[in-house]
Amino acid sequence: MDTEYFQHKGINFASVIYSKERLEYLENEFQVLDDDVYIVTFPKSGTNWMMEILSLIHSNGDISWCHKVPNYIRIPWLDVCGPGVKLVDEYQSPRLFSSHLPIQFFPKSFFSSKAKIQMSVKYFTYKGVNFSPGSYSQESLNIAENEFQVQDNDVYIVTYPKSGTNWMIEILSLLRTYGNPTWCNSVPIWLRSPWFESVEGQSQMIDITPPRVFTSHLPFPIFAKSFFTSKAKIIYVMRNPKDILVSLFHFSKMVCHYKDPGSFEEFFEDFLQGNVLYSSWFDHVKGWMQMKTNKNFFYITYEELHQDLRGSVVKICDFLGKELHEAQTDLVVNNSSFKTMKENKMSNYSLLPQDRIDQTKGSFMRKGITGDWKNHFTVAQNEYFDTVYQEKMKDLNMKFFWEDS
Ligand code: A3P
Repeated sequence: MDTEYFQHKGINFASVIYSKERLEYLENEFQVLDDDVYIVTFPKSGTNWMMEILSLIHSNGDISWCHKVPNYIRIPWLDVCGPGVKLVDEYQSPRLFSSHLPIQFFPKSFFSSKAKIQMSVKYFTYKGVNFSPGSYSQESLNIAENEFQVQDNDVYIVTYPKSGTNWMIEILSLLRTYGNPTWCNSVPIWLRSPWFESVEGQSQMIDITPPRVFTSHLPFPIFAKSFFTSKAKIIYVMRNPKDILVSLFHFSKMVCHYKDPGSFEEFFEDFLQGNVLYSSWFDHVKGWMQMKTNKNFFYITYEELHQDLRGSVVKICDFLGKELHEAQTDLVVNNSSFKTMKENKMSNYSLLPQDRIDQTKGSFMRKGITGDWKNHFTVAQNEYFDTVYQEKMKDLNMKFFWEDS
């Protein structure tokens, strides 16, 4: 028997266990109690394992509860319809629940309560690349790759995460307004240039007026197919992968739908192996460098932006066919500086709620420097990184700006 799905706000749910009414009720009316605990997972992330652990903690290690009572009765599924609804609705405090709900559907009352979530994030893969279920779905990625219609005057900022993506969004936003910061100061950065592969980005793009600027972290093989028959342009920003590793390590601690990075040593290995969001940096760069001679493709490094922002802005204008006076170019440069962006709440991600980015654990506009890896890598780690780098990049035959530093 084929499972039937229905869509609720862009996410697929199996009709046999979910209903729109129940989802609406849970999101808007369900009353979370302060002493509730919720196990929240993407399917197959270890939900039942965590249910067993919490049951044992609940019964002070006494196994008899686990032996006598099925786990779905000990810890009812919050979002699943059927007999479980009665269990959920009649459950007495202290309550333990399981849920696969994405954050945007989670009971609103949770966020003003003192209840706790035991969260386990597991990435899923789309055509071999890692994605977080907190921002993407198989469907949103399939839409981005196969259905999304690129327009000839679109511009795409493409990067591996932490390469200077938002810096480039700010620069292009300012180019659009000839350096006037009003737009940057009044519209959140993610609405100015939505990520066209993310679930949220796909709902935000409806309001974008041409000329459209989109952002993407997609690797070359799964980028929008319609781009390759269009006249649209791509600006690809790269950064020293050692600094990306450091930046991503700190950022992963703040973002609730990213996997906990663990220790620096663990994350270091995960990064080199590509066991991180968007998988391997090496594959990303090597994939996109196949486009390097295409006239609609322009690449630049974070390090070049740092060393000569004005000269970089002029090059970007040349590529886009945009003419700015000297004074307007100065405005773009000044208004896209690290300091200005850090102070602008529309660009520094401080507007996102605590359950998306935990601002107590760091700042999105962290340091904004080149070479911070020197403050984090041991001599041995640096040598190991260099060996892997040489091996993985040897076929590319390109020397990057950061290799001299
Ligand atoms: P650090 O964590 O090293 O500080 P992305 O936008 O791709 O997520 O990249 C984020 C990184 O770019 C962060 O690096 C951030 O501080 C840095 N960044 C953002 N805007 C910048 C700017 N105007 N100047 C310099 N660095 C900037």
